[in-house]
Amino acid sequence: MVIGAGQMGSGIAQVAAEAGLKVILNDISEEYTNRGLSNISKILSKNVSKGRISEADKEDILSRITTSTSLSDAAGCDMAVEAATENMAIKSKIFADLDANLPPHAILASNTSSLPITELGAVTKRPEQVIGMHFMNPVPVMKLVEIIRGLATSDEVYETVHTLAERMGKVGVLVNDFPGFVSNRVLLPMINEAIYCVYEGVATPEAIDEVMKLGMNHPMGPLTLADFIGLDTCLAIMEVLHEGLGDDKYRPCPLLRKYVKAGWLGKKTGRGFYVYD
Ligand code: CAA
Repeated sequence: MVIGAGQMGSGIAQVAAEAGLKVILNDISEEYTNRGLSNISKILSKNVSKGRISEADKEDILSRITTSTSLSDAAGCDMAVEAATENMAIKSKIFADLDANLPPHAILASNTSSLPITELGAVTKRPEQVIGMHFMNPVPVMKLVEIIRGLATSDEVYETVHTLAERMGKVGVLVNDFPGFVSNRVLLPMINEAIYCVYEGVATPEAIDEVMKLGMNHPMGPLTLADFIGLDTCLAIMEVLHEGLGDDKYRPCPLLRKYVKAGWLGKKTGRGFYVYD
């Protein structure tokens, strides 16, 4: 089961189904699960039109994905990957509910981008079966899965998840449970600094992105990437780094806070550092 049918959850469900696994895509409403399924279908159709897969492959992949709005449907699952919003209270509740519904052998993974896996493990009765499986956006394209071991995660569960990531066409990299892990501890301070450059009038968003694209060969500039990740998610990660590591260098830029308060969350709301149609 994949919990959360947003851009990350639907991507995870897609790559799992492409790997031949049966997937239940779960969210709190049918509107969300249908939207997730429709996004998967669109990406698969594009792959058909590009000749990468056949129409029959597409139907086959889609036939392995069912939807659900109740965590009690996890009763027959071997594994759950939670990709809900970056909020500890929400994730803890989902983990406790999953623990009550999943069979005893099942693994509970979180796609959290920065929240503590050890703490999520502690709300369950099976902390040795709790692990971080952090996919990158867009999931169907990016090769990395950060695999985060909580304090109690067993070797066997780590090996199983590493093998699963490979089966999904990804490369799993082991990381220990520290705020922001590796990916976001390195990436987000760069994005935050780019936002400070806008805030202090060092350059326009376009100029900052151009510098990083042409000067450092980044596929997207940091502000385009921030809009793509979601500014609310960026802020949530900076808060975790700031609180967890304590250093002032992780302080979220006031402009990032202001944008989030304005509801300018990036591409998903049509406006962030850029305006989208
Ligand atoms: N879903 C599926 N496929 C997608 C996609 C999506 N959302 N977005 C792009 N693609 C595919 C395109 O279809 C295209 O495939 P084809 O080659 O078959 O046409 C391919 O990716 C390349 O796309 P484009 O040609 O449109 O554009 P591009 O060359 O700029 O590549 C990109 C797009 C792969 C997203 C690239 O810009 C990139 O690598 N950007 C950086 C992404 C990144 O840093 N991700 C990590 C974010 S941080 C994170 O996820 C962690 C976190 O916790 C916050």
